[in-house]
Amino acid sequence: MEYGYFDHKAREYVITRPDTPIAWFNYIRNNRWTGMVSNTGGGVAVFDDPRFKRVLRYRYNNIPADRPGRYIYIRDQETGEYWSATWAPVLTNLKKFKYRCRVGLNYQVIESQYKSIKTSITYFVAPDDNAEIWLFSIRNAGHTPRTLRTYSYAELNVWGAMRDLMNLDNGPRCTRLSFENNCIIHSTWNDLGSSLGTMNWVRMHGFITATLPPQGWYTHREFFLGPYRSEANPIVVENGECPQYAKNGGYPLGTLIHDHNLAPGDEVELAYVIAADDSREAAEPVALKFQDLAACKAALVTVKERWEEHLSKLQCATPDPDFDIAVNVFNQYQSTMTTHLSRSISPYEWGVGRGIGFRDSSQDVMGSCHALADTVKNTLRILVKGQNPDGVATHNIFPKTGEGQDRDFYDDHLWLPMSVAHYLKETGDMAFLDELIPYRQGEGAPVYDHLKLCIDVTWQRRGQHGLPHIGHADWNDGLNPGSMESESVFDAVLFCYTAREMENLARFIGKNSDADMFKSRYDEMKRITNDVAWDGGWYRRIFYKEGGYIGGKDQPSRLGYIFLEPQPWAVMSGVAEGERGVKALDSVREHLCTEYGVALLREAFTEYDPTIGSISIVLPGIKENGSVFCHTNPWVIIAETVLGRGEMAMDYYKRIAYGTKSKIADIHGTEPYVYSQHIGLPPWYHPGRAGNPWLTGSATWSMLALSQWILGVRPVWGGLMIDPCVPKSWKKFRIDREYRAARFNIQVENSDGVEKGVREVRIDGKALPNNIIPPQESGSTHKVKVTMG
Ligand code: GLC
Repeated sequence: MEYGYFDHKAREYVITRPDTPIAWFNYIRNNRWTGMVSNTGGGVAVFDDPRFKRVLRYRYNNIPADRPGRYIYIRDQETGEYWSATWAPVLTNLKKFKYRCRVGLNYQVIESQYKSIKTSITYFVAPDDNAEIWLFSIRNAGHTPRTLRTYSYAELNVWGAMRDLMNLDNGPRCTRLSFENNCIIHSTWNDLGSSLGTMNWVRMHGFITATLPPQGWYTHREFFLGPYRSEANPIVVENGECPQYAKNGGYPLGTLIHDHNLAPGDEVELAYVIAADDSREAAEPVALKFQDLAACKAALVTVKERWEEHLSKLQCATPDPDFDIAVNVFNQYQSTMTTHLSRSISPYEWGVGRGIGFRDSSQDVMGSCHALADTVKNTLRILVKGQNPDGVATHNIFPKTGEGQDRDFYDDHLWLPMSVAHYLKETGDMAFLDELIPYRQGEGAPVYDHLKLCIDVTWQRRGQHGLPHIGHADWNDGLNPGSMESESVFDAVLFCYTAREMENLARFIGKNSDADMFKSRYDEMKRITNDVAWDGGWYRRIFYKEGGYIGGKDQPSRLGYIFLEPQPWAVMSGVAEGERGVKALDSVREHLCTEYGVALLREAFTEYDPTIGSISIVLPGIKENGSVFCHTNPWVIIAETVLGRGEMAMDYYKRIAYGTKSKIADIHGTEPYVYSQHIGLPPWYHPGRAGNPWLTGSATWSMLALSQWILGVRPVWGGLMIDPCVPKSWKKFRIDREYRAARFNIQVENSDGVEKGVREVRIDGKALPNNIIPPQESGSTHKVKVTMG
């Protein structure tokens, strides 16, 4: 069953009914402010650091899960009936309530109609100010005059998340509230220390105001709702009161009350504005600036224009509309959100635990290098600074404070050279390699030395077979076998990929002896991996320090006899060549492919086994214990393109594609316009049901798989390579791409219907000697004609 569809022209996903299987969210944000808005108006807002600077409240583990939110109640003053413009929280009978939600790029429109009253709310964040705006319109589409009263609802709550979690009694005893200049103002001294009680006080201020002066206001949540009530039936709304109440104390609330006398056909437009900052001086001018409806509307235009500009850097037109809406809009969108947010705050990540993950962000940025080079560079700087002098990276980093959690995951540092290489190949900013950045402790060193150290440390920390130590775990957090000296086959193939990347980089900048050293380490690790870890059909997974291994057809137990991760990476890194690569991927097909995507392992573990690690605590068929862990599926797609199997690559893509999930939204459960982290498989009680949408590595890897490996347009050291790998039925397609500030309109002809192979590339009519377009003058535009065959 479907709950909506993609509107290709508007670049929106349209949700046609509000009662989706779970709340479906969108992000509204700028560089400081991040808000989440569900399809029924629920969700939090934070700025700068989600641990310390909350603006709209997040009630963890709440029911319904998206409460509270940004609501507008409408009350018919003649009948006493009331409803909400976002369906929730009043939940009016859907037989009488019309609804539509447009999920846009950092804006969310929710439209409703109840008994001839039509409303529309557009939520978004001002592009350059620390404020969010709700553009609201209400229209009488009936034939009789109507007397209506509206109430906004926002739990304006400018204190840190830890205060709500660990010291709930304290916040409401410190909260200052007033009404001035048509603004409700909440302020409190907020402790910006990294734990409670550090007394690093900042007096935060939050404002809610509107573009029309309100007739009433209310600041106290408990009194507004009334005892034993909820957001579904606030007593103040039920009684139709219009109080003017703003007093210190209690859980703060931003309710502005407006009266509307609407003749038939009349419409009123107003905007609500929430602004917040570390001081009144910073927040107040922003709130006052947006008391002007035209300023609010202009801000929305800017949000849309910036996205237009962002997306214009990469667009395609293929025979497959689902593919196009992913590459052109929603995959870029999700990838941008993960680049900015890592795993910090989502409906499932509470913004308190882990800042940015070293391996997560190293991967996330790769999908955004083409459009967000400056952001990527800043994140890379933070990551480089997260490397310890011994070469191992800090697993999690809070970017605003620099705090980190060292947990010795020995894959972490191996992702860094890969993401720096992506950035350099895209931008040509080779000077970045010479930038001096300190280790977590100690002196500054050129970025290049940091990268070299990433290879060194893995090379030095190897076990009895010569494969890399796993440390606490590798990419798979749940495979933590106890001894740090157990060996990871995944880290071995990841090492090979990264060492080869470093070899090419070193060669490109003329460091030939380094390049030779990287090459010899690559060759040696490749030889060992093939000698030790190949079981005849696929690669094993872990060799235990105490002896024995997991992941092989001849192991005594069926539990964990095959793992996905090393198979595609063996192909991508060149470790598995020729027939061996084909065999490894055919084994993936035979043992792991399901209708919902590729499973992470088979068979799933059933009972806790300390030798295997915490993966075995997880129920079988979910998360790391044998679900479709979506992050890994694009790896298989990329590996298939390396083998030249375009049909197969597309087949795997279709199993996880947004368009596919939209058609089975009732089974899939989560938002179909973004990837989720995992999809359950039997014996999980709900096969096909996804979990943890939005902040997942699936976004970046899908972006790379679709744009750089299927469409095959990818930056390499010498320029922009054109190397498509597509289904045979794709006879013609087009890619418009910006690369180093020049634009390329690439038309690909595939009249022979091949899956891979480029016969000729012409740029502006001139044939190139190979399929690599050299960088062109900044600002220039070029027509590229590619003939496959
Ligand atoms: C989560 C983590 C990521 C890890 C993956 C597999 O997505 O954020 O770091 O690699 O799980 O365990």
